[in-house]
Amino acid sequence: MTPLDTTTTGLSVTPLGYALGAEVNGVDINQPPTPALVAAIRSVWHQHHVIVFRGQRFEAGGMLRFAQAFGALDDHAATPFYRLDEHPELLQVTNRQIGGKPSETRNTGRNWHSDYSYTDHPAAASMLFCVERPPVGGDTMFANMVNAYETLSAPLRTFLDGLDVVYDVGLTAGINERDPAKTAEVRRLNPPIAHPAVRVHPDSGRRALYVSERSSHFHGMTAAESRPLIDFLCQHATQPENVYRHVWQPGDLVCWDNRTSMHVALADFDQTQPRHMLRATLLGAQSGFVVG
Ligand code: OGA
Ligand code: MN
Repeated sequence: MTPLDTTTTGLSVTPLGYALGAEVNGVDINQPPTPALVAAIRSVWHQHHVIVFRGQRFEAGGMLRFAQAFGALDDHAATPFYRLDEHPELLQVTNRQIGGKPSETRNTGRNWHSDYSYTDHPAAASMLFCVERPPVGGDTMFANMVNAYETLSAPLRTFLDGLDVVYDVGLTAGINERDPAKTAEVRRLNPPIAHPAVRVHPDSGRRALYVSERSSHFHGMTAAESRPLIDFLCQHATQPENVYRHVWQPGDLVCWDNRTSMHVALADFDQTQPRHMLRATLLGAQSGFVVG
């Protein structure tokens, strides 16, 4: 990894967890980032998988410009509700009322997952801005999927290297409690799709396990054969030693690499208290094949 040139960028980096996660100071996300700053952040991001910018001010234009500096943004067409009308590249992850009803994104991310794994363009990365948080809880946990892969035995790594794993949006926690019409539309837009069970990061070349609680089975294997292995891999990946738990503050922008980490949004808070976040999603490469 190239050493960080802090003299030109003014960045300072403080690890937040041993497995993953680092706080990056010295960045105002609403200032146009220079190419040198983008390169420096990218290098920190590859090393720590999850990076946190604190004390930021939310400006839709500023956040979008910052996010776009790292790649093209998804317009969230796979989940076409709850985007900002004027900026479809910003998805509201909120328990605020939208259109007179509680938003169905209020329980987004309640099982371990990597964003948009159930689409044909799994997200490369996501950036989530915290506007408002409950007095206590509403934390997000992240697991390092490079470590998860590297700490498997060689025979199991070899076995997984040759497999595709099927993702099913129906395994999103809480999906059956959502509006049936919207759920039907999301299922129609996202039929079950197989992706490599091990992903090779396009920039760093590192291999990462790509199996989550939204995986139904390995392609070509039965559900009964697959289930114990999926359960084992999720348990292996999410051991406390392999996890960073983020306690949010308003003004936090947390950025995670979906190719090398997975995450879960905890329901450990009073649901009558507001929690309001906005997500920009960096478009990933086309991948996978639709199954059955
Ligand atoms: C997401 C997600 C986590 C959270 O936006 O992709 O999983 O804590 N959210 O809201
Ligand atoms: Mn998510």
